Amino acid sequence: MNKFTNTLNHIKLPSSLSEEIGNAYSENISKEQKKLFGQFFTPAKVANFMAGLFDINIQQKEFKILDPGCGALTLSCALIERIIDQNEKIEKIEIDTFDTDPSLEVVVTNMSNILKKWGEVYGIEINVNYSNSDFLLSHKIHLKKDINTPIYDFIISNPPYFKIKKEDVRLSVFNSPLQGQQNIYSLFLLGASKLLKQQGQLVFIVPRSFTSGVYFQSFQNIFFKENDIEYFHLFNSRNDGFKKDKVLQENVILKAVPKCKTRPVKIKISYSKGISDLELLKEKEFPINLLFQKIGTLNIIHLPVNELEEEAMNLFSTWTNNLGSYGMKVSTGPVVPFRCKSQLKHRKPKNSNYAPLIWMHNCHKMRLNWPNKKTDKEAWIYDNEQSNSKTIRNQNYIFLRRFSSKDDNAKLVATPHLEKYFAHKKLGIENHLNYLYKLEGMLEPEEVFGLSVLYNSSIFDAYIRSLSGNTQVSATELNALPLPSIDTIKKIGVQYLSLNGQGIEEIDNIVNKAFKLSKKHT
Ligand SMILES: C[S@@+](CC[C@H](N)C(=O)[O-])C[C@H]1O[C@@H](n2cnc3c(N)ncnc32)[C@H](O)[C@@H]1O
Repeated sequence: MNKFTNTLNHIKLPSSLSEEIGNAYSENISKEQKKLFGQFFTPAKVANFMAGLFDINIQQKEFKILDPGCGALTLSCALIERIIDQNEKIEKIEIDTFDTDPSLEVVVTNMSNILKKWGEVYGIEINVNYSNSDFLLSHKIHLKKDINTPIYDFIISNPPYFKIKKEDVRLSVFNSPLQGQQNIYSLFLLGASKLLKQQGQLVFIVPRSFTSGVYFQSFQNIFFKENDIEYFHLFNSRNDGFKKDKVLQENVILKAVPKCKTRPVKIKISYSKGISDLELLKEKEFPINLLFQKIGTLNIIHLPVNELEEEAMNLFSTWTNNLGSYGMKVSTGPVVPFRCKSQLKHRKPKNSNYAPLIWMHNCHKMRLNWPNKKTDKEAWIYDNEQSNSKTIRNQNYIFLRRFSSKDDNAKLVATPHLEKYFAHKKLGIENHLNYLYKLEGMLEPEEVFGLSVLYNSSIFDAYIRSLSGNTQVSATELNALPLPSIDTIKKIGVQYLSLNGQGIEEIDNIVNKAFKLSKKHT
């Protein structure tokens, strides 16, 4: 039982009130406005969970807090409640809040008054300083500096999420340039961390994309040079029952602290399926160097949430090769149908020069289904001078879907293709497919089947899940992923082929045997 259940059990806690007010506000604004401001209000249960991650110094009498992108103040309320509940000596809490949405001003002013009065009941001074302004631009002077500006003990945030344009002025508030397509959330994370006191703590809920995305490399380089992560929480469900928590499913809650001499060697990872099972969460500690890995030139952070993902992470960390080691590469299919509509046909005109066009819907695990009569998509591409750049030579390839389909939960679907399957000299590969080939010469059939089996296996799927919450596995990621020796890959291929078309059911058995994996997961 906490302090509040003792004294004020007939009065709603500020975090619940703020959730109600936020929901009411949210129901009355348009989708466009939500998109413009990147507005998604944190449910009180998640806000309380986030507040619970702070270590509250019970001797400290005053706290200075930041809530950037404050919305209806739910996160601030949850954190204030936690501090008051845990710290007997607390006298004063000062909170700085920022939000660009001008229509939230009334909501924030009301909630600030409620908080102030609520604090008075406990003899605690609570001051909420609200600014209807851009959090990043308001701190331009601080963020431009080479050294951090220690202002805050605690920072809590559910920042806005949206991609920002190259010319966005907010990119220029940082001294070190951020390369590639950035998202506003990573700028908030970086900006906030620069305002944290040396003993301070920061808890954010953000999309998971920064853990592996190509565009977050420069963000990672700067953020992890100055901060350490202590804790990750993931919402991880493939179950429809958690559909209502959809927006949370690709998000992580993280706790970070400024780097200090005694670097933490372990990180705690917890997960729940959604909000309703948050108190039943499972957690485990991992050595930092197992989670933070470099694959090729990509810095990635693994977030394993089950034994299979952990086993995959351990196994792959022992592999030092990648496609490049074997002279192989993945590229994205060059045919963008709407750009060459006039060159595509459903049926091949007689006596003409048309090549088969392969789409995502033709590609299944270990099986090419072309032409697929069930779709209305064109099956042929005109192969002349003009389309030359779009067609490729018919030879041994692996086709890889760039997106997971609704009926197939797998992150990666690999389809082996041998030259002999088509009499044609050329092929068209649609842009939603990646294709894997040898830079010089041609893939051997054992390599085509060995790699396809590996890509379609449960252990590979688990590895990808542990490193990327995205539905997309990019060509860059595929080129960087670690691989076993080429001999092992070929052996897997030989074994699959020896099953004469019956191998699809045996994929996991073949792979588990090759790497002496436990079979209990399959
Ligand atoms: C994802 S919502 C979260 C709101 C609130 N923190 C919560 O947890 O319920 C992000 C908030 O950031 C605000 N916002 C968007 N861009 C901003 C910016 N550049 N500076 C300050 N606030 C911003 C939006 O108006 C929105 O209220």
